[in-house]
Amino acid sequence: MPNIIVTARDGAEREIAAETGLSLMEAIRDAGIDEMLALCGGCCSCATCHVKVDPAFTALLPTVSEDESDLLDSSEHRDAYSRLSCQIPLTAELDGLRIAIAPED
Ligand code: FES
Repeated sequence: MPNIIVTARDGAEREIAAETGLSLMEAIRDAGIDEMLALCGGCCSCATCHVKVDPAFTALLPTVSEDESDLLDSSEHRDAYSRLSCQIPLTAELDGLRIAIAPED
C-alpha cells in the first residue's frame, strides 16, 4: 500500500494510503479530495486530473503517451512536472510519491 503525499491547491499537505492497482487519480478521489474534478473518469479525455509530480519520482512513472501529452497541452499550467493522474498506475515502488494538484484551468 503506497503512501502518497498530496498537496492541495491551498498548499495543505495530506498523506493518503493508496491501494496498488488503482490509478493515482482514483486514489486521490477515493481519499475524499474533491478539488480535482477528473471529469472523464479516467479515460484520458478531459485533463481535469492534472497534477505536478515530484521530479524524484519521474523515472518510476510510465512515459507520457501522445494522447496524454496532447491533453496536457490544453492546460495553461503545463510544465515539466505535469502528468494526468489517471494515467499513473500505483505500484508499491511509488511509496512516498509527492504530487501537487495543478491549478484549475
Ligand atoms: S480523469 Fe480525465 S483525463 Fe484523467
